[in-house]
Amino acid sequence: MKQICKLQIYVILLLPISIFSLPECNFPAVFNFGDSNSDTGALTAMFGEAAAPPPNGETFFGSPAGRVCDGRLLIDFIAEGLGVPYLSAFLDSMGTNFSHGANYATIGSTIRRQNTTIFQSGYSPISLDIQYAQLSNFKKRAQTTRRKGGVFKNLFPQEYDFSRALYTFDIGQNDLTAGYQLNMTTEQVKAYVPDVISEFTTTIKNVYTLGGRAFWIHNTGPVGCLPYIMDTQVITAAQVDKHGCAAPFNDVSQYFNRKLKEAIDQLRVDLHLAAITYVDIYSVKYSLIAQSEKLGFGDPFLVCCGNGGKYNFNNAMRCGSTKNVNGTEIVIVKSCEDPSSKIIWDGIHFTEVANRWIYNNIANGAYSDPPVPLQMACHRKDDLRPFYL
Ligand SMILES: *[C@@H]1O[C@H](CO)[C@@H](O)[C@H](O)[C@H]1NC(C)=O
Ligand SMILES: *[C@@H]1O[C@H](CO)[C@@H](O)[C@H](O)[C@H]1NC(C)=O
Ligand SMILES: *[C@@H]1O[C@H](CO)[C@@H](O)[C@H](O)[C@H]1NC(C)=O
Ligand SMILES: *[C@@H]1O[C@H](CO)[C@@H](O)[C@H](O)[C@H]1NC(C)=O
Repeated sequence: MKQICKLQIYVILLLPISIFSLPECNFPAVFNFGDSNSDTGALTAMFGEAAAPPPNGETFFGSPAGRVCDGRLLIDFIAEGLGVPYLSAFLDSMGTNFSHGANYATIGSTIRRQNTTIFQSGYSPISLDIQYAQLSNFKKRAQTTRRKGGVFKNLFPQEYDFSRALYTFDIGQNDLTAGYQLNMTTEQVKAYVPDVISEFTTTIKNVYTLGGRAFWIHNTGPVGCLPYIMDTQVITAAQVDKHGCAAPFNDVSQYFNRKLKEAIDQLRVDLHLAAITYVDIYSVKYSLIAQSEKLGFGDPFLVCCGNGGKYNFNNAMRCGSTKNVNGTEIVIVKSCEDPSSKIIWDGIHFTEVANRWIYNNIANGAYSDPPVPLQMACHRKDDLRPFYL
């Protein structure tokens, strides 16, 4: 945070006029890559509603909406902020409209391909390289499909929109937890982080080669503050930080983020025309947890939709778990009375109210490098010129 504040002051002092007079980018489309933090329906389209069962979706959509949340995700608020419709999941074949972009994120996605199936480990087969393959395929077929005319003409972006679009990324958290699930030590997890980052940059370069120019990249959140980690891992009292999070796990997130930031600095050198905005999601989420009491959320770790224990979280009986009663599946792990009173939805994901708070704090560029607002993320760090000039 300190660094970001300094950076902001620096920019404001040196560029008093330009930063406030930047034109908006008017992104015609958004293409998103990620995991459950931004899946808007892909995994449910592939594996059924059990991927995000009721009560997910209850607050905003009124029923399950393919999102692991009571309502909207950060990517939904980003879409609202950019004035485009909520993104359809690329893998969803029902009622989708890709005229303003597509979402390749799936629940459980990792950057690297995993050596386990989703049935063994819960990690999605749609890793980041596969998400890129889907974008590439989509771009190729979008124009031929548009030319069919009729309804198809307005369901897909124009060729030109692919280079004017905003490409958003929120992925990496599962690459870290995957190691712990294999009983690796923190040192072992750290040891493979450079490989994860290298795969991440490969995909960004591939999107650039395909014509993408504006990138909005979230770093990874404080996994050590998630009840899922705090409840399933061995954490000694000495490892608990002043806000109640598991420090060694947050150290790994921060290590990943440092490596990602370095890689992005290099990408700005390698990809001359790219405008890359790095967004410090770690700090904004940590700040929310640290201010929980002050903001009226009380205990930040008390899960809304869960079942018993210190955090109202039971990994064996997660949000939406059902029980067969006389031949009917009934939901036994339900949401709390008021999801807007909690930060954590299900032990792993944030509530809609938390996602909105996060959006409101990042949209103006306060957590970004360079510190440009979301609507201006086509401006490059070096000279703040938009990429298309
Ligand atoms: C999968 O297995 C291969 C071969 O053993 C290994 O090189 C790779 O790192 C493994 N991937 C992950 C994500 O563990
Ligand atoms: C798809 O969405 C765009 C933008 O909202 C809209 O103009 C178009 O009519 C939609 N197409 C269909 C078939 O719903
Ligand atoms: C990890 O450790 C747990 C507890 O000892 C064990 O049940 C599980 O099988 C181990 N997982 C792997 C992948 O070795
Ligand atoms: C299940 O069915 C049995 C027999 O009809 C009935 O006695 C019992 O009350 C039912 N249980 C519930 C929870 O509805």
